[in-house]
Amino acid sequence: RAEYQAKSMALSDAMSAACDFYRQHLRSAPNAVDYLKRRGLTGEVAAKFGLGYSPDNWDSLRQVFPDYEATALVESGLVIDRTDEEGNNRKRYDRFRDRIMFPIRNTKGQVIGFGGRVLDSGEPKYLNSPETPLFQKGSELYGLFEARQAIRDAGYVLVTEGYMDVVALAQLGFPQAVATLGTACTPTHVHKLLRQTDHVVFSFDGDRAGRKAARRALDACLPHATDNKVIKFLFLPQEHDPDSFVREMGAEAFERQIHDAMPLSQFLLNEVTAEADLSTSEGRARAQYDAKPLMQLMPPSSLRLQIVRGLAQLTQSTPNEIESLFELAKPIAS
Ligand code: GTP
Ligand code: MN
Ligand code: MN
Ligand code: MN
Ligand code: MN
Repeated sequence: RAEYQAKSMALSDAMSAACDFYRQHLRSAPNAVDYLKRRGLTGEVAAKFGLGYSPDNWDSLRQVFPDYEATALVESGLVIDRTDEEGNNRKRYDRFRDRIMFPIRNTKGQVIGFGGRVLDSGEPKYLNSPETPLFQKGSELYGLFEARQAIRDAGYVLVTEGYMDVVALAQLGFPQAVATLGTACTPTHVHKLLRQTDHVVFSFDGDRAGRKAARRALDACLPHATDNKVIKFLFLPQEHDPDSFVREMGAEAFERQIHDAMPLSQFLLNEVTAEADLSTSEGRARAQYDAKPLMQLMPPSSLRLQIVRGLAQLTQSTPNEIESLFELAKPIAS
Protein backbone atom coordinates (compact mmCIF):
# COMPACT_ATOMS: atom_id res chain seq x y z
CA ARG A 1 0.00 0.00 0.00
CA ALA A 2 2.81 2.41 0.87
CA GLU A 3 4.50 1.51 -2.39
CA TYR A 4 1.33 2.17 -4.36
CA GLN A 5 1.10 5.58 -2.71
CA ALA A 6 4.63 6.53 -3.63
CA LYS A 7 4.13 5.26 -7.15
CA SER A 8 0.90 7.14 -7.73
CA MET A 9 2.40 10.33 -6.37
CA ALA A 10 5.35 10.04 -8.72
CA LEU A 11 2.92 9.49 -11.57
CA SER A 12 0.88 12.58 -10.81
CA ASP A 13 4.06 14.66 -10.47
CA ALA A 14 5.21 13.48 -13.88
CA MET A 15 1.83 14.23 -15.42
CA SER A 16 1.72 17.70 -13.98
CA ALA A 17 5.27 18.50 -15.16
CA ALA A 18 4.40 17.29 -18.66
CA CYS A 19 1.22 19.35 -18.61
CA ASP A 20 3.19 22.53 -17.83
CA PHE A 21 5.64 21.70 -20.59
CA TYR A 22 2.90 21.18 -23.20
CA ARG A 23 1.19 24.40 -22.15
CA GLN A 24 4.41 26.39 -22.52
CA HIS A 25 4.98 24.94 -25.95
CA LEU A 26 1.57 25.95 -27.21
CA ARG A 27 2.72 29.58 -27.00
CA SER A 28 5.66 28.96 -29.28
CA ALA A 29 3.74 26.82 -31.78
CA PRO A 30 1.94 29.11 -34.24
CA ASN A 31 0.53 26.15 -36.19
CA ALA A 32 -1.13 24.77 -33.06
CA VAL A 33 -2.47 28.19 -32.04
CA ASP A 34 -3.79 28.64 -35.59
CA TYR A 35 -5.52 25.28 -35.40
CA LEU A 36 -7.29 26.20 -32.15
CA LYS A 37 -8.31 29.55 -33.63
CA ARG A 38 -9.70 27.83 -36.71
CA ARG A 39 -11.73 25.64 -34.37
CA GLY A 40 -13.07 28.89 -32.95
CA LEU A 41 -11.46 28.59 -29.52
CA THR A 42 -10.21 31.58 -27.54
CA GLY A 43 -7.01 31.77 -25.51
CA GLU A 44 -9.19 32.13 -22.45
CA VAL A 45 -10.92 28.78 -22.83
CA ALA A 46 -7.63 27.12 -23.83
CA ALA A 47 -6.15 28.38 -20.57
CA LYS A 48 -9.17 27.23 -18.55
CA PHE A 49 -8.67 23.65 -19.76
CA GLY A 50 -4.88 23.86 -19.74
CA LEU A 51 -4.62 22.99 -23.43
CA GLY A 52 -1.11 22.49 -24.72
CA TYR A 53 0.97 21.29 -27.63
CA SER A 54 3.40 18.39 -27.80
CA PRO A 55 6.32 19.36 -30.06
CA ASP A 56 7.10 17.50 -33.28
CA ASN A 57 10.12 15.65 -31.87
CA TRP A 58 10.71 12.08 -30.77
CA ASP A 59 12.07 12.97 -27.31
CA SER A 60 10.96 16.48 -26.32
CA LEU A 61 10.21 15.30 -22.81
CA ARG A 62 13.96 14.90 -22.16
CA GLN A 63 13.82 18.64 -21.52
CA VAL A 64 11.41 18.07 -18.63
CA PHE A 65 12.71 14.75 -17.35
CA PRO A 66 16.51 14.57 -17.37
CA ASP A 67 15.98 11.01 -16.15
CA TYR A 68 14.20 10.06 -19.37
CA GLU A 69 15.10 6.40 -18.74
CA ALA A 70 13.08 6.16 -15.50
CA THR A 71 10.49 3.37 -15.58
CA ALA A 72 7.94 5.72 -13.98
CA LEU A 73 7.85 7.64 -17.25
CA VAL A 74 6.92 4.53 -19.18
CA GLU A 75 4.33 3.66 -16.53
CA SER A 76 2.85 7.13 -16.91
CA GLY A 77 2.35 6.44 -20.61
CA LEU A 78 4.15 9.66 -21.54
CA VAL A 79 7.03 7.66 -22.93
CA ILE A 80 6.90 4.46 -24.95
CA ASP A 81 9.56 1.83 -24.52
CA ARG A 82 10.21 -0.41 -27.47
CA THR A 83 12.38 -3.34 -26.55
CA ASP A 84 12.92 -6.42 -28.70
CA GLU A 85 12.26 -9.95 -27.43
CA GLU A 86 15.82 -10.43 -26.17
CA GLY A 87 15.60 -7.23 -24.19
CA ASN A 88 17.95 -5.44 -26.57
CA ASN A 89 17.53 -2.50 -28.86
CA ARG A 90 15.88 -0.43 -26.24
CA LYS A 91 14.35 2.65 -27.71
CA ARG A 92 12.38 5.29 -25.90
CA TYR A 93 10.26 7.98 -27.41
CA ASP A 94 7.49 10.41 -26.53
CA ARG A 95 3.99 9.03 -27.02
CA PHE A 96 2.57 12.45 -27.88
CA ARG A 97 4.18 14.33 -30.77
CA ASP A 98 2.80 17.23 -32.79
CA ARG A 99 -0.60 17.09 -31.09
CA ILE A 100 -2.97 19.45 -29.28
CA MET A 101 -2.87 18.23 -25.70
CA PHE A 102 -5.96 18.00 -23.50
CA PRO A 103 -4.97 17.31 -19.88
CA ILE A 104 -7.42 15.03 -18.08
CA ARG A 105 -7.89 15.83 -14.38
CA ASN A 106 -9.43 13.82 -11.58
CA THR A 107 -11.94 15.46 -9.25
CA LYS A 108 -9.07 16.65 -7.04
CA GLY A 109 -7.67 18.54 -10.01
CA GLN A 110 -4.58 16.37 -10.46
CA VAL A 111 -3.56 15.67 -14.06
CA ILE A 112 -3.95 11.91 -14.54
CA GLY A 113 -3.74 11.55 -18.32
CA PHE A 114 -3.92 13.27 -21.69
CA GLY A 115 -5.83 13.19 -24.90
CA GLY A 116 -3.88 14.39 -27.90
CA ARG A 117 -5.44 15.50 -31.19
CA VAL A 118 -3.60 15.72 -34.49
CA LEU A 119 -3.61 19.10 -36.16
CA ASP A 120 -6.03 18.81 -39.03
CA SER A 121 -6.12 15.36 -40.57
CA GLY A 122 -4.01 12.36 -39.64
CA GLU A 123 -4.41 9.00 -37.96
CA PRO A 124 -5.22 8.31 -35.26
CA LYS A 125 -7.20 11.51 -34.79
CA TYR A 126 -6.98 11.20 -31.02
CA LEU A 127 -4.35 9.45 -28.97
CA ASN A 128 -5.13 8.85 -25.31
CA SER A 129 -2.94 8.03 -22.34
CA PRO A 130 -2.98 4.35 -21.43
CA GLU A 131 -4.60 3.34 -18.16
CA THR A 132 -2.44 3.61 -15.05
CA PRO A 133 -3.17 3.14 -11.33
CA LEU A 134 -4.19 6.82 -11.41
CA PHE A 135 -6.23 6.77 -14.61
CA GLN A 136 -9.10 4.44 -15.41
CA LYS A 137 -11.13 5.42 -18.43
CA GLY A 138 -14.23 3.67 -17.17
CA SER A 139 -14.44 5.94 -14.16
CA GLU A 140 -13.02 9.29 -15.26
CA LEU A 141 -14.86 11.99 -17.18
CA TYR A 142 -13.08 14.68 -19.13
CA GLY A 143 -13.87 18.17 -17.86
CA LEU A 144 -15.62 17.15 -14.64
CA PHE A 145 -13.13 19.04 -12.47
CA GLU A 146 -13.48 22.19 -14.59
CA ALA A 147 -17.29 21.88 -14.79
CA ARG A 148 -18.14 21.23 -11.17
CA GLN A 149 -19.35 24.70 -10.21
CA ALA A 150 -21.17 25.17 -13.52
CA ILE A 151 -23.01 21.88 -13.00
CA ARG A 152 -24.22 23.15 -9.65
CA ASP A 153 -25.25 26.48 -11.15
CA ALA A 154 -27.06 24.97 -14.14
CA GLY A 155 -28.63 22.19 -12.09
CA TYR A 156 -27.64 19.55 -14.63
CA VAL A 157 -24.66 18.05 -16.42
CA LEU A 158 -24.30 17.56 -20.16
CA VAL A 159 -22.46 14.38 -21.14
CA THR A 160 -20.80 14.41 -24.55
CA GLU A 161 -18.44 12.15 -26.48
CA GLY A 162 -15.54 14.44 -27.20
CA TYR A 163 -12.85 16.65 -25.73
CA MET A 164 -13.65 19.28 -28.33
CA ASP A 165 -17.33 19.22 -27.44
CA VAL A 166 -16.51 20.02 -23.81
CA VAL A 167 -14.12 22.86 -24.59
CA ALA A 168 -16.28 24.36 -27.32
CA LEU A 169 -19.47 24.13 -25.24
CA ALA A 170 -17.70 25.82 -22.31
CA GLN A 171 -16.78 28.69 -24.56
CA LEU A 172 -20.22 28.95 -26.14
CA GLY A 173 -22.16 29.18 -22.89
CA PHE A 174 -22.45 25.57 -21.69
CA PRO A 175 -19.65 25.11 -19.14
CA GLN A 176 -21.63 22.26 -17.49
CA ALA A 177 -20.36 19.72 -20.07
CA VAL A 178 -18.14 16.69 -19.59
CA ALA A 179 -17.11 13.84 -21.91
CA THR A 180 -16.49 10.14 -21.68
CA LEU A 181 -12.94 9.31 -22.68
CA GLY A 182 -13.40 7.59 -26.02
CA THR A 183 -15.05 4.69 -24.19
CA ALA A 184 -18.62 3.69 -23.49
CA CYS A 185 -20.39 5.34 -20.59
CA THR A 186 -20.21 2.99 -17.59
CA PRO A 187 -22.35 2.64 -14.44
CA THR A 188 -19.32 4.05 -12.57
CA HIS A 189 -19.45 7.19 -14.74
CA VAL A 190 -23.16 7.57 -14.02
CA HIS A 191 -22.68 7.06 -10.31
CA LYS A 192 -19.96 9.71 -10.29
CA LEU A 193 -22.17 12.19 -12.17
CA LEU A 194 -25.13 11.58 -9.90
CA ARG A 195 -22.97 12.48 -6.92
CA GLN A 196 -22.64 15.96 -8.45
CA THR A 197 -26.20 16.50 -9.67
CA ASP A 198 -29.60 14.84 -9.88
CA HIS A 199 -30.08 15.71 -13.55
CA VAL A 200 -28.03 14.27 -16.41
CA VAL A 201 -28.50 15.05 -20.11
CA PHE A 202 -26.63 12.89 -22.60
CA SER A 203 -25.74 14.65 -25.81
CA PHE A 204 -23.81 12.36 -28.11
CA ASP A 205 -23.00 12.77 -31.80
CA GLY A 206 -25.89 12.47 -34.24
CA ASP A 207 -24.16 9.73 -36.21
CA ARG A 208 -24.57 5.98 -35.84
CA ALA A 209 -21.71 5.75 -33.32
CA GLY A 210 -23.35 8.43 -31.20
CA ARG A 211 -26.72 6.67 -31.20
CA LYS A 212 -24.99 3.46 -30.20
CA ALA A 213 -23.21 5.34 -27.40
CA ALA A 214 -26.59 6.63 -26.17
CA ARG A 215 -27.95 3.10 -26.07
CA ARG A 216 -24.97 1.95 -24.00
CA ALA A 217 -25.39 4.95 -21.71
CA LEU A 218 -29.02 3.92 -21.16
CA ASP A 219 -27.85 0.51 -19.95
CA ALA A 220 -25.30 2.18 -17.68
CA CYS A 221 -27.96 4.47 -16.18
CA LEU A 222 -30.58 1.86 -15.34
CA PRO A 223 -29.01 0.67 -12.05
CA HIS A 224 -28.99 4.30 -10.88
CA ALA A 225 -32.33 5.43 -12.31
CA THR A 226 -34.30 6.22 -9.18
CA ASP A 227 -37.29 8.44 -8.57
CA ASN A 228 -35.26 11.47 -7.49
CA LYS A 229 -33.08 11.56 -10.62
CA VAL A 230 -33.77 12.97 -14.07
CA ILE A 231 -31.90 11.35 -16.94
CA LYS A 232 -32.46 12.50 -20.50
CA PHE A 233 -31.11 11.86 -23.97
CA LEU A 234 -30.71 14.49 -26.61
CA PHE A 235 -30.48 13.35 -30.23
CA LEU A 236 -28.75 15.73 -32.59
CA PRO A 237 -29.23 15.74 -36.35
CA GLN A 238 -27.14 13.05 -38.07
CA GLU A 239 -24.37 15.35 -39.28
CA HIS A 240 -23.79 17.18 -35.98
CA ASP A 241 -22.00 16.84 -32.70
CA PRO A 242 -22.62 19.30 -29.84
CA ASP A 243 -19.68 21.48 -30.91
CA SER A 244 -20.77 21.78 -34.54
CA PHE A 245 -24.45 22.11 -33.62
CA VAL A 246 -23.97 25.08 -31.31
CA ARG A 247 -21.61 26.80 -33.75
CA GLU A 248 -23.97 26.36 -36.67
CA MET A 249 -27.40 26.59 -35.07
CA GLY A 250 -26.62 28.77 -32.06
CA ALA A 251 -26.87 28.46 -28.30
CA GLU A 252 -30.63 29.01 -28.20
CA ALA A 253 -31.27 26.11 -30.56
CA PHE A 254 -29.13 23.93 -28.33
CA GLU A 255 -31.02 25.14 -25.24
CA ARG A 256 -34.22 24.01 -26.94
CA GLN A 257 -32.67 20.62 -27.69
CA ILE A 258 -31.73 20.28 -24.02
CA HIS A 259 -35.22 21.30 -22.96
CA ASP A 260 -36.85 18.84 -25.36
CA ALA A 261 -34.47 15.95 -24.60
CA MET A 262 -36.07 12.52 -24.32
CA PRO A 263 -36.60 11.14 -20.80
CA LEU A 264 -34.97 7.78 -20.04
CA SER A 265 -38.35 6.05 -19.72
CA GLN A 266 -39.36 7.03 -23.23
CA PHE A 267 -35.96 6.16 -24.71
CA LEU A 268 -36.16 2.71 -23.13
CA LEU A 269 -39.64 2.07 -24.50
CA ASN A 270 -38.58 3.34 -27.94
CA GLU A 271 -35.55 1.08 -27.94
CA VAL A 272 -37.46 -2.09 -27.13
CA THR A 273 -40.28 -1.40 -29.57
CA ALA A 274 -38.21 -0.01 -32.44
CA GLU A 275 -37.67 -3.39 -34.10
CA ALA A 276 -40.97 -4.97 -33.09
CA ASP A 277 -44.23 -5.02 -35.04
CA LEU A 278 -46.61 -4.39 -32.15
CA SER A 279 -49.62 -5.37 -34.23
CA THR A 280 -48.57 -9.03 -33.97
CA SER A 281 -48.24 -11.33 -30.96
CA GLU A 282 -44.68 -12.11 -32.06
CA GLY A 283 -43.78 -8.44 -32.16
CA ARG A 284 -45.27 -7.78 -28.73
CA ALA A 285 -43.41 -10.80 -27.36
CA ARG A 286 -40.22 -9.56 -28.93
CA ALA A 287 -40.60 -6.16 -27.27
CA GLN A 288 -41.04 -7.84 -23.89
CA TYR A 289 -38.06 -10.08 -24.58
CA ASP A 290 -35.87 -7.05 -25.32
CA ALA A 291 -37.21 -5.11 -22.33
CA LYS A 292 -36.66 -7.85 -19.77
CA PRO A 293 -32.87 -7.53 -19.27
CA LEU A 294 -33.16 -3.73 -19.15
CA MET A 295 -35.96 -3.72 -16.57
CA GLN A 296 -34.02 -6.22 -14.48
CA LEU A 297 -31.20 -3.69 -14.17
CA MET A 298 -33.51 -1.17 -12.48
CA PRO A 299 -33.98 -1.03 -8.73
CA PRO A 300 -37.61 -1.19 -7.59
CA SER A 301 -39.10 2.30 -7.88
CA SER A 302 -42.08 4.27 -9.07
CA LEU A 303 -40.16 5.00 -12.23
CA ARG A 304 -39.75 1.29 -12.91
CA LEU A 305 -43.47 0.78 -12.30
CA GLN A 306 -44.27 3.58 -14.75
CA ILE A 307 -42.13 1.95 -17.41
CA VAL A 308 -43.73 -1.42 -16.74
CA ARG A 309 -47.14 0.22 -17.19
CA GLY A 310 -46.03 1.79 -20.46
CA LEU A 311 -44.72 -1.51 -21.71
CA ALA A 312 -47.89 -3.31 -20.60
CA GLN A 313 -49.98 -0.91 -22.64
CA LEU A 314 -47.80 -1.29 -25.73
CA THR A 315 -47.75 -5.07 -25.52
CA GLN A 316 -51.36 -5.80 -24.48
CA SER A 317 -50.37 -7.14 -21.07
CA THR A 318 -50.96 -6.12 -17.48
CA PRO A 319 -48.25 -4.65 -15.26
CA ASN A 320 -48.59 -7.69 -12.99
CA GLU A 321 -48.01 -10.08 -15.86
CA ILE A 322 -44.87 -8.22 -16.85
CA GLU A 323 -43.53 -8.01 -13.30
CA SER A 324 -43.91 -11.74 -12.77
CA LEU A 325 -42.67 -12.67 -16.25
CA PHE A 326 -39.60 -10.45 -15.76
CA GLU A 327 -39.09 -11.70 -12.19
CA LEU A 328 -38.79 -8.11 -11.01
CA ALA A 329 -37.89 -8.00 -7.35
CA LYS A 330 -40.71 -6.53 -5.31
CA PRO A 331 -39.87 -3.75 -2.92
CA ILE A 332 -39.76 -5.03 0.66
CA ALA A 333 -42.79 -4.37 2.90
CA SER A 334 -46.08 -2.99 1.50
P1 GTP B 1 -13.11 16.76 -33.44
O1 GTP B 1 -12.99 16.01 -34.74
O2 GTP B 1 -11.82 17.36 -33.04
O3 GTP B 1 -14.25 17.70 -33.42
O4 GTP B 1 -13.33 15.68 -32.31
P2 GTP B 1 -14.63 14.88 -31.93
O5 GTP B 1 -14.62 14.79 -30.44
O6 GTP B 1 -15.84 15.41 -32.58
O7 GTP B 1 -14.28 13.46 -32.53
P3 GTP B 1 -15.18 12.17 -32.67
O8 GTP B 1 -16.61 12.50 -32.60
O9 GTP B 1 -14.67 11.49 -33.87
O10 GTP B 1 -14.74 11.30 -31.43
C1 GTP B 1 -15.27 11.46 -30.13
C2 GTP B 1 -14.26 11.01 -29.11
O11 GTP B 1 -13.85 9.68 -29.38
C3 GTP B 1 -12.96 11.82 -29.12
O12 GTP B 1 -13.04 12.98 -28.32
C4 GTP B 1 -11.98 10.83 -28.55
O13 GTP B 1 -12.05 10.73 -27.14
C5 GTP B 1 -12.46 9.53 -29.15
N1 GTP B 1 -11.76 9.26 -30.41
C6 GTP B 1 -12.01 9.76 -31.63
N2 GTP B 1 -11.14 9.32 -32.55
C7 GTP B 1 -10.28 8.53 -31.90
C8 GTP B 1 -9.14 7.78 -32.29
O14 GTP B 1 -8.72 7.79 -33.44
N3 GTP B 1 -8.52 7.05 -31.31
C9 GTP B 1 -8.95 7.03 -30.02
N4 GTP B 1 -8.29 6.29 -29.13
N5 GTP B 1 -10.02 7.74 -29.61
C10 GTP B 1 -10.68 8.48 -30.52
MN1 MN C 1 -32.11 19.51 -10.34
MN1 MN D 1 -18.24 10.85 -33.61
MN1 MN E 1 -16.33 17.34 -33.27
MN1 MN F 1 -17.74 14.32 -32.53
